[in-house]
Amino acid sequence: MQEKKMSEALQKARDYEEKKVAEIKREQRPAFHACAPVGWINDPNGFSQFQGEYHLFYQYYPYATKWGPMHWGHSKTKDFLKWEQLPAALAPDTEYDGQGCFSGSAIEYDGKHVLMYTGVLEKEEPDGHRLIRQTQSIAIGDGINYEKLSCNPVITGDMLPEGSSKADFRDPKLWRDEEDGRFYAIAGSRGAEINGRLTLFSSADLQTWQYEGLVEQDRGEYGAMWECPDFFPLDGKQVILISPQEMEARGLEFHNGNGTVCMVGDYRKAGMEYTRDTAAAIDYGLDFYAPQTLETTDGRRVMIGWMQSWDNHLTPPEFKWSGIMTIPRELRVINNRLIQNPVRELADYYRNSVQYQNIALVGGGEELTLDGISGRSLDMTVEIKGTEESRLKMELASDGARKTMLIYDAKQQTLTFDRSYAGIKRDVIHQRTMKVEPKEGSLKVRIVMDKYTVEVFVNDGQQAMSSLIYTDMGAEGISFSAEEPVTLDITKHDIVME
Ligand code: FRU
Repeated sequence: MQEKKMSEALQKARDYEEKKVAEIKREQRPAFHACAPVGWINDPNGFSQFQGEYHLFYQYYPYATKWGPMHWGHSKTKDFLKWEQLPAALAPDTEYDGQGCFSGSAIEYDGKHVLMYTGVLEKEEPDGHRLIRQTQSIAIGDGINYEKLSCNPVITGDMLPEGSSKADFRDPKLWRDEEDGRFYAIAGSRGAEINGRLTLFSSADLQTWQYEGLVEQDRGEYGAMWECPDFFPLDGKQVILISPQEMEARGLEFHNGNGTVCMVGDYRKAGMEYTRDTAAAIDYGLDFYAPQTLETTDGRRVMIGWMQSWDNHLTPPEFKWSGIMTIPRELRVINNRLIQNPVRELADYYRNSVQYQNIALVGGGEELTLDGISGRSLDMTVEIKGTEESRLKMELASDGARKTMLIYDAKQQTLTFDRSYAGIKRDVIHQRTMKVEPKEGSLKVRIVMDKYTVEVFVNDGQQAMSSLIYTDMGAEGISFSAEEPVTLDITKHDIVME
């Protein structure tokens, strides 16, 4: 598109990434997870299908491995696993978004790729106070170049009800309703009482928008500002995903400060009534935030999240890039519960598959290693059977001294992820435990690893637990040990990208 209209800020980012990305070795990157081209990334943005491919944008600051004025970086994929990097799509280069192009979403419409994002304006007023305004804007493009609308911002805080914050109003999720042909967007906002809420807007033409009302709001349970909302129908229910800030832990739930919640309920469009049936954490790992979804042409709802916690920065100092996304996950709702499993395309990259049936661990803590079971890029399912007593310990990414542990305590019915000895040289949080539900004395644990990532899916996707490790790549041992006798079925596939 309009090459000549490209701003200096965007040109600078594109030139910079072109030069710097070439300096980063491919082997240093994850094999099948999207990651920062160079510099810093956080939330996934604009996850959408466009002209038969899946596009992923992200919050992006190319110039350092820490957060800075937000751009939108850009990648695409045909199968959710092989990612191709594209030039940065948006830079903070206008008055209304000069302090950042914050999170948002995208759709394909009329042959064009439509992005909706939050522009941040921050300036000092003559009286000395800092004015912050977050507004929603649109940029339209061809899959590579995007032009911001001249009528931006299209949604401002002035359209919100009395008492709403104009400074915390962001992360629009855009969709088009095929029935009435209108565009809708929900955005996170907060009210006078500091509670999170979801505001709904609609438009006939993407340019003129009207406020429709509040779809859902906090009842004193889920943190403060609700960031990065998503809103979609699935399996006859209506799902809301939110990433609330400042969450307080309750039992084994919500330990990440900035956490995630999935609400399952029903939605009546007329009257915009959302009835919430259930709410639960989306992921129980140490590193998961700001997920968003798209719908594939074959009707699958696929979610991707940022695999990092805002409070734990683990990227090794020598890395020139920081930030990895989760593996895209197919979602289902079964019995009002969100089920998530890695995209089925992963099976296309299975190599060196091995299977063991009824492996008996005698107990007493003796370590078992198995031929063909090791590695750092793999998809392994372990079915732990025949115990209501034992503690089973799996060691991953191990070289003896360094290791990451996954511990199933059958009596407590908990699964613990522990990276205390993963080689991290910082005082960050290393352990997380979640409650699990064994079925007739057995628990199915699927572990997907990609060098620095460990994503655990329990009982066919009933629960997920995603965490980062940056253990040296030489540590690739896997072993099993148990206190009391237990039986294991194990299937492992290496993931090899040609
Ligand atoms: C969530 C978030 C969003 C915001 C973006 C800024 O992680 O805080 O609410 O748009 O990050 O980078």
